[in-house]
Amino acid sequence: MKIKSWLFPLTLLAGVILHSTFAKVELPGAGFSTFGSGAVRAEVVQILEEGEVNMGGHTQKYQAARVKILEGQYQGVPMEIDYGKRQVRSDDYDLTVGDKVMVSISKTPENVVNAYFVDYVRSTPMLWLAVVFALAIILISRWKGVGALLSMAFSLYVIVAYIIPQILIGEDPLRVSIIGSAVLLGVTLYLTYGWTLKTHAAVISMVVVLMLTGALSAFFVVFAKLNGTGDESVMFLVQLTETPINMRGLLLGGMLIGALGVLDDLVTTQASAVFELHHANPNLGFRALYNSAMRIGQDHVAATVNTLVLAYAGASLPMLLLFSLARGDYGSLINYALVAEEIVRIVAPTPDDPLITLVMPDKPNGCLVAIAPGIIEIAAEAILHHIQPTRIAILTHTNLRRYAEPLHSAFTQRGVPAHLMTLPSGEQMKSLRVAERLYAQLLEAGCDRGSLLVIVGGGVLGDLGGFVAATYMRGILYVQVPTTLLAQVDSSVGGKVGVDLPQGKNLVGTFHQPVMTLIDPETLDTLPLRHWRNGFAEMLKYGAALQIGLWRRLQMIVEAKLISPRRVHREAALWTLPIARCIALKAQIASEDERDLSGRRAVLNFGHTVGHAIEAALGYRDWLHGEAIAAGMVAEAEIGRILGITLPEVADELRETIAQAGLPTQLPAGVDADTLLAHMRHDKKRAGDALSIVLLEAIGNARLVPNIPTEAIREALTRCATS
Ligand SMILES: NC(=O)c1ccc[n+]([C@@H]2O[C@H](COP(=O)([O-])OP(=O)(O)OC[C@H]3O[C@@H](n4cnc5c(N)ncnc54)[C@H](O)[C@@H]3O)[C@@H](O)[C@H]2O)c1
Ligand SMILES: [Zn+2]
Repeated sequence: MKIKSWLFPLTLLAGVILHSTFAKVELPGAGFSTFGSGAVRAEVVQILEEGEVNMGGHTQKYQAARVKILEGQYQGVPMEIDYGKRQVRSDDYDLTVGDKVMVSISKTPENVVNAYFVDYVRSTPMLWLAVVFALAIILISRWKGVGALLSMAFSLYVIVAYIIPQILIGEDPLRVSIIGSAVLLGVTLYLTYGWTLKTHAAVISMVVVLMLTGALSAFFVVFAKLNGTGDESVMFLVQLTETPINMRGLLLGGMLIGALGVLDDLVTTQASAVFELHHANPNLGFRALYNSAMRIGQDHVAATVNTLVLAYAGASLPMLLLFSLARGDYGSLINYALVAEEIVRIVAPTPDDPLITLVMPDKPNGCLVAIAPGIIEIAAEAILHHIQPTRIAILTHTNLRRYAEPLHSAFTQRGVPAHLMTLPSGEQMKSLRVAERLYAQLLEAGCDRGSLLVIVGGGVLGDLGGFVAATYMRGILYVQVPTTLLAQVDSSVGGKVGVDLPQGKNLVGTFHQPVMTLIDPETLDTLPLRHWRNGFAEMLKYGAALQIGLWRRLQMIVEAKLISPRRVHREAALWTLPIARCIALKAQIASEDERDLSGRRAVLNFGHTVGHAIEAALGYRDWLHGEAIAAGMVAEAEIGRILGITLPEVADELRETIAQAGLPTQLPAGVDADTLLAHMRHDKKRAGDALSIVLLEAIGNARLVPNIPTEAIREALTRCATS
């Protein structure tokens, strides 16, 4: 395709404008010496001596040579250098007469001038390489090649003239990288592919993906607690520059720019594919076009992942070597932020170094969620570090005193009056009557508006206690210390609190975010197996509906029989990360849609439309919530299968994993399709008329589908009835 003739002047103009904006930057701390700044070029004129020396146990060749200095203060002066006598040679290229080398020259206090070999001058061969490279490109791609070369030069220009100086003067690296990348990719795409509809499409998708990448990396950098100081050269930078540079931003910026190359490739070839498909068959409808393009895209993404891994392994070969050298002592290596950053891996947290997630980080009522085995032992300290309450009331169950009592004494020891309130277990505690009793106890204990409620228990106490905290004296602060798996992955985050009425569950309530949620997987040690499975069902829901990576991890847990119909492995180390993943997903969604208004939270309800109907049909007896939604997920996947939204193999995979975990995959005996449909309709009366249900498009990808035909639901439920 011919490049439009006006594109060059336009780019030139853009370049001039950009240059005048970028070039004004005055770099700070200019004048400090960095690598190579003190070296000068010299030419080898004579080899004086050659031989072998013993360097730290191995022999290497050395040479001494006379050189002529080509520039600087000593220009024209002949000097002697040696190569390999005092330094380890990393290669075995010999110096020959005529070679250009870099030497550094120093003067001792006695005014003796010495020259040292630094490196070969590679500019000439590199230049030749560049010329050959450019010629090859132009030969193969003609005009497109010229455009590509120009855009390569432009990329370098943007990075060197804009991104780097702006970061060095202390601008936010993430912002600078985003702006730089957008300008860079925009211009280079147009230069390379011309001013066509296809390029517009590519540019638009690129900007969207760029923003997404930014958001995702930001999330994971915070989630993995990467602070950008794991890289040696970054630490070097900190010491050299006077302006404070936002290290986390720098890390993010680097990730973004790193993603650019891949993006460019993916986006343009994908756009190309769509246009070619359309060209080959202009009658192809939107849906068919989209589906074909998606299939190409899937292969493309898969191939790209491979490319990335290879490129990455190539770039970090020294790091991989370091790993192999550590043989058996990976643990200590993993502790270095350096390595953590390299492989973006979350290390198993300790109580003083927990995994942290924030709910609504930008709002005053945001909540800090910390997850670590053993964190309950330092809970009092952590809480009082954040909040200075007048008094503390702790709400727990009688059977959980072992967790609540140490907390009670820790508060008292730290001089804060604390009061322990215990209730028996059971859903029936979630009532206005019990809430009223708790208000009375709080009053009696002298709790005022500055007091804090700490809840140590499962979802029942979380909902009840949260409701009491939301309403007592128009609302006091509260902290969740969830002790069931269900509460740790779900109910302790999000701020939905409430009680039941005799007419139904959760009919009275509000939103009240805890100030902190402290999750200690070690407290699950005493949790009965059935309640483990109960929470595990919600975990499977997160994976199936939102994140394939989590789903695969949970599948591995099931396949390794770490949770099975008869037992569960309770090692906290095994569960910490999956719990953290679930909570991060919940936190993210709750942050986006605190009051459950935008429908964003709806995807969390996968399995719940049918699940709630099962619970209601059983009168909230016999089956636990997680068991009902396990069967609910299977039934809803079946609805998706009937409607052609869920692939049969996806529905089967879901059922299989749920069954292996010991959770029900069929409706309870004696509950028929029509009873469930009636309950579903009754449930929906609150939201509107037609039934909308969250259906799986793929593992990790669920969507709220409106107006589901009743027939499809009835058919699916009938298929799921107990055989
Ligand atoms: N607010 C929300 O967003 C939300 C979300 C999901 C569920 N919920 C609510 O959560 C409630 C269910 O919560 P749940 O499943 O945690 O039930 P639960 O709170 O009743 O706890 C289950 C049982 O486990 C016991 N237990 C708790 N921790 C233990 C431990 N560490 N060791 C031994 N035993 C322990 C309890 O005494 C109880 O008998 C329901 O009322 C539901 O409506 C709320
Ligand atoms: Zn649920």
